[in-house]
Amino acid sequence: AKTVNVSELRRMREAGEKIACLTCYDASFALIQDRAGVDMILVGDSLGMVIHGGNTTTPVTVADIAYHSRCVAPHLKRSFLVADLPFLSYATLERALDSSLRLMQEGGAKMVKLEGGREQASIVEYLSVRGVPVCAHLGLRPQFVHKMGAFKVQGRDEAAAEEMLHDAEVLAKAGADLLLLECIPAELGRRITEASPVPVIGIGAGHDVDGQILVLHDILNISPMVTLGRKPRFVKNYMTDGADIETAIRNYVAEVKSGAYPAPEHCFLK
Ligand code: KIV
Ligand code: NA
Repeated sequence: AKTVNVSELRRMREAGEKIACLTCYDASFALIQDRAGVDMILVGDSLGMVIHGGNTTTPVTVADIAYHSRCVAPHLKRSFLVADLPFLSYATLERALDSSLRLMQEGGAKMVKLEGGREQASIVEYLSVRGVPVCAHLGLRPQFVHKMGAFKVQGRDEAAAEEMLHDAEVLAKAGADLLLLECIPAELGRRITEASPVPVIGIGAGHDVDGQILVLHDILNISPMVTLGRKPRFVKNYMTDGADIETAIRNYVAEVKSGAYPAPEHCFLK
């Protein structure tokens, strides 16, 4: 199968083929996910929660993401590898460049992801013009948890929705090759995707985006959040049919491709 890269992601968007994405942190799962047809794999700073067992992502370091990327990267034949720039690792232009260098050279990532709106445009442009593909993560930004106080749905009123639409436009103009929307009303996910010149991946952003991403441990029903009974609305357990892990991941990919996931029960309707 064709190797996934930035232009293949664009082609999929144009062709209306949904992009199936999942987080991954080690070699064993990388092999399975690549084989199961996951288009894009993210070494997310969610590892602070599902691997390290913390309550937030803010303690995660560039070394942590580089280490897990290095575990994953050699095992991908087809999937596109994205790595998260962790908390404050892109606070200045120089830090953003150094951090991205490590994630790409040590980690083997093909794209970096950072959280933030238009205020990050200069960082996105600085990286992008130097050949670093960037994904901009909008909506709920877990690295802002200490400012927000809690994780909650974003962009609910029209003013906030318009701000986010503007952020998306500015970031794409600055050179972002991909947008990721977390925890926003489905209608806003649709509006941002329609207006966007680049592919848009959602997590809790409704059905009308170009692709979906979930945290691996959530779909396997083993993440601390799920175990402790705090399952986010958009999470679906793919282990319910009693199948093995590879089947669960294949079923997730198939449901993203067919549009069966997300169902209305996984979306924030307003
Ligand atoms: O860190 C992560 O896993 C993420 C996804 C939830 C999008 O950023
Ligand atoms: Na993340």
